[in-house]
Amino acid sequence: MSLKSKGLQLILLMLFEIYLFLCVLQVNCVTFPLPGEGPEQQLLKPNDWSYCDYFWADKKDPQGGACIPGIEVLIQKQLKGKTLQKEMAEFIHERIKIEEEYAKNLSKLSFSPLAAQEEGTLGEAWTQLKKSLHDEAEVHLKFSNKLHSEVEKPLLAFRGEHFKKDLKKYDHHIADLRKQLASKYAGVEKARKALADRQKDLEVKTHQLDVKAHKHEEDIKKARRKSTQAGDDLMRSLDFYNQTQCKWFEEMVTSSMELEKMEVERIEFIQTHLRQYTTLRHETDMFNQSTVEPVDQLLQSVDPGKDRELWVRENKTGEVRPVDLDI
Ligand SMILES: *[C@@H]1O[C@H](CO)[C@@H](O)[C@H](O)[C@H]1NC(C)=O
Ligand SMILES: *[C@@H]1O[C@H](CO)[C@@H](O)[C@H](O)[C@H]1NC(C)=O
Ligand SMILES: *[C@@H]1O[C@H](CO)[C@@H](O)[C@H](O)[C@H]1NC(C)=O
Ligand SMILES: *[C@@H]1O[C@H](CO)[C@@H](O)[C@H](O)[C@H]1NC(C)=O
Repeated sequence: MSLKSKGLQLILLMLFEIYLFLCVLQVNCVTFPLPGEGPEQQLLKPNDWSYCDYFWADKKDPQGGACIPGIEVLIQKQLKGKTLQKEMAEFIHERIKIEEEYAKNLSKLSFSPLAAQEEGTLGEAWTQLKKSLHDEAEVHLKFSNKLHSEVEKPLLAFRGEHFKKDLKKYDHHIADLRKQLASKYAGVEKARKALADRQKDLEVKTHQLDVKAHKHEEDIKKARRKSTQAGDDLMRSLDFYNQTQCKWFEEMVTSSMELEKMEVERIEFIQTHLRQYTTLRHETDMFNQSTVEPVDQLLQSVDPGKDRELWVRENKTGEVRPVDLDI
């Protein structure tokens, strides 16, 4: 092979590579536009910060390990959400325990015999005050029961056992498409090399001078045919690649939109149940206010004069006063 033809062939190959592989940026077998080239891409859902617009690339592991596909980042967010939801349920459970213990303590104290012998209107007020502790305990017990059934339980039950399995399905499905994409990309590479080889061959044959004209002509024709064939193969493998990438793209949009919907549902579900917490808490305040109202009323009726009368009636030792000594 002459130096000249070798040089030419190299240039041809380089041009070909530029044609094929400089018009896109290939990362992990996904092809992206080169920065600053190609038509400007519009977001699929502008101004929406939609998942479907921001997770196309693989995430580089900061520890230098394997790359994490964008979909995996979204799935991990859902898994974390599930854990946090469980932690919230646990927190509410602790809150319930405080309430129950408080109720138990109030109830116990309400049965205390302390100052049970107080009498009269003051005695009535005191008895009511002690009784109000029992009522208050009831209020707190009711609060804790409602917290359990209307907040803790729903938080625990939201997204049952199948949730993680369901998420894995997205993962596997997309991972499968990525595998297909990688194999199609390998197919493109192979076809590209085959074409380069064929072109090299054609190049060499075209510049061979030391063969019989007739045979030479045939050889060149044959080489050209093979080269054309290799070109067709390459186009076909590109088509396969494009189709697979297109399928992956569509599935990515669908899956990321579904994951986005799941996140909206998760946040709204938790918001609803935390609101239920505050509603119940407000109710408790109103109810336990009503438990002290009767105490207030009886305190207003406390009358030292009346109490004295009552006490004197029962405990008087004699109303006949002494008189002067007389003979
Ligand atoms: C209930 O009473 C016990 C002592 O009998 C005390 O240790 C505990 O802190 C009390 N709990 C509440 C919630 O008041
Ligand atoms: C790649 O796919 C696009 C459609 O996404 C198509 O327009 C283009 O012709 C395909 N290229 C090849 C070489 O098959
Ligand atoms: C009502 O209960 C709360 C605790 O849940 C307590 O802090 C508050 O002092 C109670 N109010 C009355 C009036 O008893
Ligand atoms: C006052 O009278 C009541 C009723 O008879 C009695 O239970 C109480 O012990 C008396 N109080 C005193 C200090 O004697």
